[in-house]
Amino acid sequence: MPSDPMANPLSLNLSEAMRSVAAEIDAMFDSLLTVPDDPRAVLYEAMRHAAIGGGKRLRPLLVFASANLFNVTRESALRAGLAIEALHVYSLVHDDMPCMDDDDMRRGKPTVHKQWDEAIAVLAGDALHALAFEIAADPLTHPDPFVRAELSYELARASGPSGMAGGQMMDLVAEETTFDLPTTTRLQQLKTGALISFCLEAGAILGHVPPEGRRSLRAYARDIGLAFQIADDLLDVEGDAAVVGKATGKDAGAGKATFVSLLGVERARAQAGMLVDQAIAHLASFGTEADLLRAIARYVIERNH
Ligand code: IPE
Ligand code: IPE
Ligand code: MG
Ligand code: MG
Ligand code: MG
Repeated sequence: MPSDPMANPLSLNLSEAMRSVAAEIDAMFDSLLTVPDDPRAVLYEAMRHAAIGGGKRLRPLLVFASANLFNVTRESALRAGLAIEALHVYSLVHDDMPCMDDDDMRRGKPTVHKQWDEAIAVLAGDALHALAFEIAADPLTHPDPFVRAELSYELARASGPSGMAGGQMMDLVAEETTFDLPTTTRLQQLKTGALISFCLEAGAILGHVPPEGRRSLRAYARDIGLAFQIADDLLDVEGDAAVVGKATGKDAGAGKATFVSLLGVERARAQAGMLVDQAIAHLASFGTEADLLRAIARYVIERNH
């Protein structure tokens, strides 16, 4: 951040937008996940522990920034953002389990299976997964049932075997074998890119933009999705666990297929920078209304957590 934030109004807008989206996502999870006074209480507590506090809320911010291009109401954009954040949090809870990455810390707190146990982590993940689709299909998210159906459909595609879950499968296979650059790119596009692409798509869906009108946003999403995962992999090598909020220095030992393991730190960083420039170039047909998306693209690789 520059010392005088007014010297760079774009970064000022980005930090303001990040702060307000994060606060609203926290508030919405808080009101949706009231802990009942019955034996399900621990499930709700585990969901709250995973979902509230600490995340960057990058995915809801992307939905918000995309929806901003198309006159979508703030309520619709935030609720679609809440749906993808619930899905993302579920993926993190399961990703951290001993059968997957076996991590003890997430968002600066103990992981769900550490705080409680593995059965509770499975259930909290399952319930957050269901909650994501409940929110996407809820009339409060959008009055048009066709919009809600398309949102739910795209969210399912982005999360399943052709999306995040498929990428997580490739991530496990990579531990036992060596992937080349094209296969690693595909792994990252599925594991991380698919949910990020959904965010950009969601803004267009909420704004009734037909698929032909989404090409530049899709190209932007593909490039920042890859850049985002390269930045995550660089943070694993170079980041400070206390700042990153999760363990670092684990990918190489676990045999993960990353751009950093294939290209080395410097070339991976250069590749991420090139992808960000390319992502911003895809927004050329938009005016200042896309400035938030441009600022997010830069943030994706400049972040320290
Ligand atoms: C972490 O995602 C998992 C990846 C896909 C790399 P984030 O870096 O967005 O994690 P939070 O939501 O801010 O905790
Ligand atoms: C996880 O990727 C991506 C998903 C949860 C789908 P990583 O395993 O690299 O994410 P971190 O580093 O644990 O956040
Ligand atoms: Mg993982
Ligand atoms: Mg992990
Ligand atoms: Mg990682």
